Amino acid sequence: MTKNFFITTPIYYPSGKPHMGHAYSSILTDIIARFKRLEGYEVFFLTGTDEHGLKIQKSAEKVNKNPIDFCNEVSEVFRNLSNQLNLSNSDFIRTTEDRHKKVVQQLWGILSKKDQIYLSKYSGWYSISDEAYYTEEEVFEEDGKKKSITSGSEVEWMEEESYFFKLSDFEKKLLSFYEKNPDFVQPESRKNEVVSFIKQGLKDLSVSRTTFNWGISVPGHKKHVIYVWLDALVNYVSASNYFNKDQQAPWPTDIHVIGKDILRFHAVYWPAFLMAADLPLPKKIFSHGWILSGDEKMSKSKGNILDPIELINEYGVDEIRYYLAKEVVFGLDGKINKDNIEICINDLANNIGNLTQRVFTLIEKYYDLKMPNTSDNYTKNSMTIIDSKNFVQYLRNLEIHNYIKEINKYSSKINKYVNDNEPWNRKLNSDTNIKNILNTSINSIKNIFILLHPIMPKKSEYFLNLLGLKSFSISNLKIDIPEEQKLSKPKILFKKY
Ligand code: ME8
Ligand code: MG
Repeated sequence: MTKNFFITTPIYYPSGKPHMGHAYSSILTDIIARFKRLEGYEVFFLTGTDEHGLKIQKSAEKVNKNPIDFCNEVSEVFRNLSNQLNLSNSDFIRTTEDRHKKVVQQLWGILSKKDQIYLSKYSGWYSISDEAYYTEEEVFEEDGKKKSITSGSEVEWMEEESYFFKLSDFEKKLLSFYEKNPDFVQPESRKNEVVSFIKQGLKDLSVSRTTFNWGISVPGHKKHVIYVWLDALVNYVSASNYFNKDQQAPWPTDIHVIGKDILRFHAVYWPAFLMAADLPLPKKIFSHGWILSGDEKMSKSKGNILDPIELINEYGVDEIRYYLAKEVVFGLDGKINKDNIEICINDLANNIGNLTQRVFTLIEKYYDLKMPNTSDNYTKNSMTIIDSKNFVQYLRNLEIHNYIKEINKYSSKINKYVNDNEPWNRKLNSDTNIKNILNTSINSIKNIFILLHPIMPKKSEYFLNLLGLKSFSISNLKIDIPEEQKLSKPKILFKKY
């Protein structure tokens, strides 16, 4: 029986062009999804766009477009980005689709029936950019403008009739949930933030708006549109189709990958909504850090955005995926700039690239590009028998940078093996003859490229195909390339800068 695994990215606001931060979340999610497939899971990987709310309505107005025409265009840009990043997503959901609207209204119905929602009045400081209300204590004044302390975005005073979700009822339930599930939020420092936020006390949450209309209306009360965060979070359920027949993804989600900016929504509101509706909770939330440009968070208002497409066109998609996976340490902020990207690609070229070229040049020269057969006295070199446990553990813990470190250590070991054994100086019939050494080397390099598959799927598939391998499961680490098999010589794998 195949094991199912459901993983998601945040759904992005199509309010402007996608940037490196969006690309990072998506790449991270794709790496985990692909790794789970290597492990034998049937993976459902979801991404998409979050298209309702005042922020989008205003972005559309600015360019004199209907919200839906505007969303159609920008959402398409995000869908294309998924292809350009070579994401293996199973679905791309848009919150303006009927399948989603239906489920949001179904969930509203459940919450309302269970008496978790009531009508009242609201006033507070609203940030359109964050689509969130802040209290007096959560804002400060700068240049005559009120701004949110946490995000720095401008807020304005709003008063409206609003439906409320009884979030305050979930303080204790959430705290006891966190006690029982200490690994729910990763990394741990982020979990601690969440727990102390809950301990400060939770107020009921305003979950409808009347001051604009671009959203899903409250069933039976058309004047109100459903709060965009309640709408957006439900995308995970809509795509899984859990409420209806023909469920296409398992529920609950195994991992929600998100940036730390939207932790509160995923780690407090989302579990509370689900508890209130008596639905199973996701198993894990992985909250990653920022991709910084210089020392600052990349953002439109700062004008320091690195365009992922430009970088991919310049350096290659696998190279950018590798760079992000290697340079950003588990849950911490990471930097991206061209100098560092080039240093990183040069390392790849000097280590894995160089090793591969050297070995293939010898095989071409001595064996007409056939997999060398080993001599009778050959005992399988321990180097080809790698213990996948280490690697698997790193990725299960979402320590992708350590996974890559481990791959590079392995590759250095093979490089050293080739150097120490000097196959170019050996005789064919000595104890460790050239064929044995090259056979060992190729099988070890094969392992590197299997392990690299989640990170650099294109290069990995290209190389493994040259060895005659068509499937790339973890179990292939144990299987040698058949002797005498015809190989093809790879083109230069990594360009040097
Ligand atoms: O928040 N570094 O959408 P959004 C790393 N629609 N990651 C970054 C980043 C950066 N500089 N900038 C953005 C929303 N991100 C909501 C989500 S989910 C139900 C609804 C990533 O377009 C990061 O994952 O503002 C962040 O959480 C997400 O983009 C926010 O994208
Ligand atoms: Mg944002």
